[in-house]
Amino acid sequence: MTTALYDDKQLLRARIGLASEIERGSTVLSSRVVEAFLNVPRHSFVHAFYREDDGVHRPWRATDAADGAWLREVYADRVLVTEVDGVRAEVAGSEGRSGVATSSSTLPSLMADMLDALDVRPGDRVLEIGTGTGYNAALLCHLAGAANVTTVDRTEQLVVTARTRLNEAGFEPTVVRADGSEGCPGGAPFDRIIATCSVRRIPQAWLDQCAPGGLIVAPMESALGGGAVARLTKLPDGRAAGRFLHRPASFMPLRSDDEPSPPAREPRAGGRTTKAGARVLDDYGFSFWAGLHLTPTVVRNGGTLHDSADGSTARVQDHPDGSSTVAVSGARDLWQAIEDAYWTWLEGNRPRREWFTVEAGPEGQSVGYSAPDGSSIRWQI
Ligand SMILES: C[S@@+](CC[C@H](N)C(=O)[O-])C[C@H]1O[C@@H](n2cnc3c(N)ncnc32)[C@H](O)[C@@H]1O
Repeated sequence: MTTALYDDKQLLRARIGLASEIERGSTVLSSRVVEAFLNVPRHSFVHAFYREDDGVHRPWRATDAADGAWLREVYADRVLVTEVDGVRAEVAGSEGRSGVATSSSTLPSLMADMLDALDVRPGDRVLEIGTGTGYNAALLCHLAGAANVTTVDRTEQLVVTARTRLNEAGFEPTVVRADGSEGCPGGAPFDRIIATCSVRRIPQAWLDQCAPGGLIVAPMESALGGGAVARLTKLPDGRAAGRFLHRPASFMPLRSDDEPSPPAREPRAGGRTTKAGARVLDDYGFSFWAGLHLTPTVVRNGGTLHDSADGSTARVQDHPDGSSTVAVSGARDLWQAIEDAYWTWLEGNRPRREWFTVEAGPEGQSVGYSAPDGSSIRWQI
């Protein structure tokens, strides 16, 4: 239906435009990855997506736009939100929805960097966690051969739609509805595992199901944000070790049925002044660092932090005159922990995420950093 609105020349031009944009923004990209983007059409997997206006997500279909505007948007280097609160854009009413994005087609240049890091070769057995639209799965099929690709998503409707679209595009990978934190035991071992939703730690199932010498590429993110893509090599002893890619990456989280509860209690207004205002955590570099310094029970919700372990809460506010205040309640001053981390981050000259190492194994998971003065730190995550 969508394809009929555009002729082959327009579609080819759109794919060339996207591939060129990806190449311009990337430092190292294998020609096989660029070639995959030239061959696999994005619009075949995204028939409609949401555009957000003032907190309301409204569906936008090819038939809603004139002059190729819809196609330009689909082939732009942009995230396209395809599902909000479990409702796909394709079936959403025009009044829109004001909920949370639950599935999307990832930023193409980020997909390209992750596929480049995954280093997929023809014949590699590949597992993708987070099928979504099926577009990334199609690129994996192009790179590895569809018979070698397994992709899982937790939502039946997404899986059914993605399988249909993949088949229509000529690919027949294994598409499974499953909780991705369990991997896909029936298809293991895999030479390559890629996640397109974020995790705080690499699930043990992925480590178990990755063949020795294989690669795991997965966005890791703490509850404070600061997402970064980890690239780990599976070692012969069962552990995996690696580093983070240079670019920041904010992905929707791998969802589980026991999501943490939101902050229970707001602290009183007022409080003390702070030199570290609310915006410090919007810096991806710092929120990555801060996530290593605070316990994983600390959750951020806008300007509020809450520790579900001891009930501590901090609410920080920036004021029009440039000052910031923080109000705290509970057993400890949570914002003090952020301030301490902020000063060590500045003193360390804002360490870059690609300088950190990551290790994961049955005995635990950790992130390490070696400072230029030779000292090193390792955090259990
Ligand atoms: C950013 S989207 C994936 C984009 C997709 N790779 C594509 O090319 O369109 C993230 C996906 O992760 C899925 N997801 C979240 N939690 C999951 C879980 N526990 N198991 C499997 N999939 C999950 C969501 O349903 C969503 O479709």
